[in-house]
Amino acid sequence: MADAKRLSPQSSVLSTFGRPASRLSQVEISLIRQINALATPLSTNLGIGEPNLEPDDRLKQLARRATEASWHYSPNAGNLSLRKKLANGTPYDAKTDVCVTAGTQEGLFAIFQALVESGDEVLVPNPGFVSYATLATMCGATVVTYELEPPDWNLDADALLAKVTPRTKLIIVNSPSNPLGAVIDEATLRTIAGAGCLVVADEVYRELWYETPPPSMSGMGKNVIVINGLSKSHGMTGLRLGWIFGDAELMTHIVKAHQYVATCASVFSQALAELILDDRDWNASWLANARSMFRTQREAALSAIRRELDADIPPPAGAFYAFVPVPSCDTLTFSKSLATDGAVLVIPGIAFGSMGEGFVRISYAASVDAIGTGIERMGRYLRERGR
Ligand SMILES: Cc1ncc(COP(=O)(O)O)c(C=O)c1O
Repeated sequence: MADAKRLSPQSSVLSTFGRPASRLSQVEISLIRQINALATPLSTNLGIGEPNLEPDDRLKQLARRATEASWHYSPNAGNLSLRKKLANGTPYDAKTDVCVTAGTQEGLFAIFQALVESGDEVLVPNPGFVSYATLATMCGATVVTYELEPPDWNLDADALLAKVTPRTKLIIVNSPSNPLGAVIDEATLRTIAGAGCLVVADEVYRELWYETPPPSMSGMGKNVIVINGLSKSHGMTGLRLGWIFGDAELMTHIVKAHQYVATCASVFSQALAELILDDRDWNASWLANARSMFRTQREAALSAIRRELDADIPPPAGAFYAFVPVPSCDTLTFSKSLATDGAVLVIPGIAFGSMGEGFVRISYAASVDAIGTGIERMGRYLRERGR
């Protein structure tokens, strides 16, 4: 046997016993976390990616009832009773085409682990949610971006299709979008579904819309995988409850990957999800109230952005993000100094890809007061620096 390695007081664990896996070598803690780490008790936080929704009495009551359900493992794909409720009204078979996950993020991880490998290309939006490119990189795949253009950030399906190659394994579509709040129309979604590749539609913000419900890719083809969850619609980010819809053949492999990362989603959260879906009237009014609250906050944000930042952006059609131009500056440096010197947290657009440079993401998942104060401070900060 080789001599056992010993850790001396001067050396580090990793240099003595081994390196971290190379699959993480190009992976950084996201800029979003880095900016949030600059928060102080005096900061106004418009960087946050979670809804400012708190459970009402009814939701708390349902949560108490959910504790009465089994505390033991569920099937890997989730309790069949919940899968049936989720699949109700969709073309998906609860037995074979649904997997309940520990949030949409874990669903994405399982999908990538199941389907993506070295040599594959994954098409992701730029700007887009940071996880997509990271998950592709962790699987050894090549990230290929499709560009979204200001001011409307509409997805140009032909430009996307022009990027498809025989190596394209997945196209990722996110509507409504983080960080843009943009919604993709149905014709464009159908064109993408017909691109001849597997498509993952991230619809985690689909319940948060302003004028009309965003179209879903649900049922647009056997090659389409749809993910969703309760984090954003019900303010349940910490309860980790998401789900995947997809063809049984794909789902077998996705469930296998999910088994080895999560075993099953929390059975408490699964039980709560069932109670929420069962209480249709309460759920409908909860969602209507959530939309109405975000509509008010969106108006507060848009008018403060116009007044303080002199920017007139197209109103976001969904989610709770405004992607705002801050011309002629490096928005990463700007966001960091705004956080430390101006006491406002916003996320630099570059965190979401090269097309985000020159923009910041303002989350209006905050009280109307906080939105006003934060954007007013941001305007003052820019004016004091002559911009
Ligand atoms: C576009 C998008 N997808 C997925 C997620 C992950 O959500 P969760 O894992 O909480 O369901 C987020 C969270 O910010 C997101 O913005």
